[in-house]
Amino acid sequence: MEFKFERVKKDYSDFSSDKVLVNAPQTPAFPVRIASEIMSRCLSYLKSKNNISIYDPCCGAAHLLTVLGFLYSTNLNKVYGTDIDDKAIQYAHQNLNFLTSDGLMQKTRELKTRYNNLSNTFNEKSIQSSERLAAMIRGSEKTQNNICCKRWDITSSTPPSFQRVNVVITDLPYGNMTCWEGNKSGNPINKMLSNIYEILDLENSIIAIISDKQQKIKHEKFFQIKRLKHGKRQFTFLKPMNDEVES
Ligand SMILES: C[S@@+](CC[C@H](N)C(=O)[O-])C[C@H]1O[C@@H](n2cnc3c(N)ncnc32)[C@H](O)[C@@H]1O
Repeated sequence: MEFKFERVKKDYSDFSSDKVLVNAPQTPAFPVRIASEIMSRCLSYLKSKNNISIYDPCCGAAHLLTVLGFLYSTNLNKVYGTDIDDKAIQYAHQNLNFLTSDGLMQKTRELKTRYNNLSNTFNEKSIQSSERLAAMIRGSEKTQNNICCKRWDITSSTPPSFQRVNVVITDLPYGNMTCWEGNKSGNPINKMLSNIYEILDLENSIIAIISDKQQKIKHEKFFQIKRLKHGKRQFTFLKPMNDEVES
């Protein structure tokens, strides 16, 4: 994949797990530069890029969603995440809460208390990261009303109750770390896409699915507008059938 938007490598270490953001055990964080490139490409396919909602149906600890919430805070109005795993959703709540000013202020206070008890370079750097993240979203912080994160099996027969979703970005279960759980009958990607279709803003939406190269991403209600490969991953961009392509 050519980096069309994230041309220059930036220092994204403020998003490293366990500085401010948390990661579920044994789930490596998704590379921030790639996440940002995918999001910029998604925005380039939308008619309107402001006041938009984003949804990750397999959000895990919501590291990816939270990073995008910071980097694209001025574009985003609503941030939604679901995952089938209760433990992952607990981490997701913690991470997404950092998109609110109260959540980040509380984290900074905790880090400062920890630093007062045990002053070491790691704690000091975490405080600095927290302060930089706060500066990044100043003026476009979210409230609890803008964020919703809950346990949901996206392969079940009903979609979650979100409405008019503009961007769906998801890193599917694959590899050794995670696998599809839940409703085991039929193709999980197909069932996920059927549910996603129900909650989209059909006039202004785009789906980006991150998977391994073996997974076939196809559905009768979507058409593919781009497929890119990068290392072991593939990124498939889809639009719902009754939306016109704008690029
Ligand atoms: C690759 S991980 C996602 C990591 C995430 N992007 C992050 O930043 O932490 C895939 C996730 O899919 C979830 N998953 C598996 N089956 C699911 C299902 N039927 N519905 C919703 N989530 C599911 C797993 O629990 C796992 O958290």
